[in-house]
Amino acid sequence: MNSEQAKQVAAKAALVHIRGYDIIGVGSGSTVRHFITALEPSARRLKGAVASSADTARRLEAIGVDVIDLNEAGTLPVYVDGADEATRHGHLIKGGGGALTREKIIAAASRRFICMIHRPKLVDVLGDFGLPIEVIPMARSYVARELSARGGRPEWREGFVTDNGNHIIDIKNLRITDPPGLEAEFGQIAGVVTVGLFAHRGADVLLVADEVQAQTLIP
Ligand code: 5RP
Repeated sequence: MNSEQAKQVAAKAALVHIRGYDIIGVGSGSTVRHFITALEPSARRLKGAVASSADTARRLEAIGVDVIDLNEAGTLPVYVDGADEATRHGHLIKGGGGALTREKIIAAASRRFICMIHRPKLVDVLGDFGLPIEVIPMARSYVARELSARGGRPEWREGFVTDNGNHIIDIKNLRITDPPGLEAEFGQIAGVVTVGLFAHRGADVLLVADEVQAQTLIP
């Protein structure tokens, strides 16, 4: 599969879901970059957008969209973002690009979450993609030990600092059969800022694309 082409198809399919709204939330990553490109011709009719990363903010501004603070925007009608893995239940792994904390906040503050993926990311059980966890830097080793004790294989994403000044640990070797349970369990470890599992607030719409068309799944 040509992944970039399929991501582009997914991104174009998302446009229909933002029609009629003048403020939207926008996530991060390469699929979102395709979405921003597809958005350009209609960008002027948006009053603004809340961005989940500095990179997305820059790209939105470049096409003429005002980037607004979530505190000013209030509840958003719709949030558009990609994911690293997804199930048919709308449970997601996110954070491959390291923007998971802001993504989770915007998803939580939005009425609808439209998630764009290309087909290989649709899985029965989450976990082949290492689960990203954002941690306070001083807690990194402690959190890694706690994760190992729970059967994961933590790997520090060395050299990477999030937009919030924190570190990322990717947990390999997981087979996530209870996404809401694991999200809650890992979220309670001291020093964890955000678990890259989006289960309590998953996707409302999954757009699953190949190079030709996107299928709409409603979890
Ligand atoms: C960034 C994310 C992205 O949505 C996820 O990594 C998917 O990225 P891409 O669209 O580049 O495959 O969660 O933190």
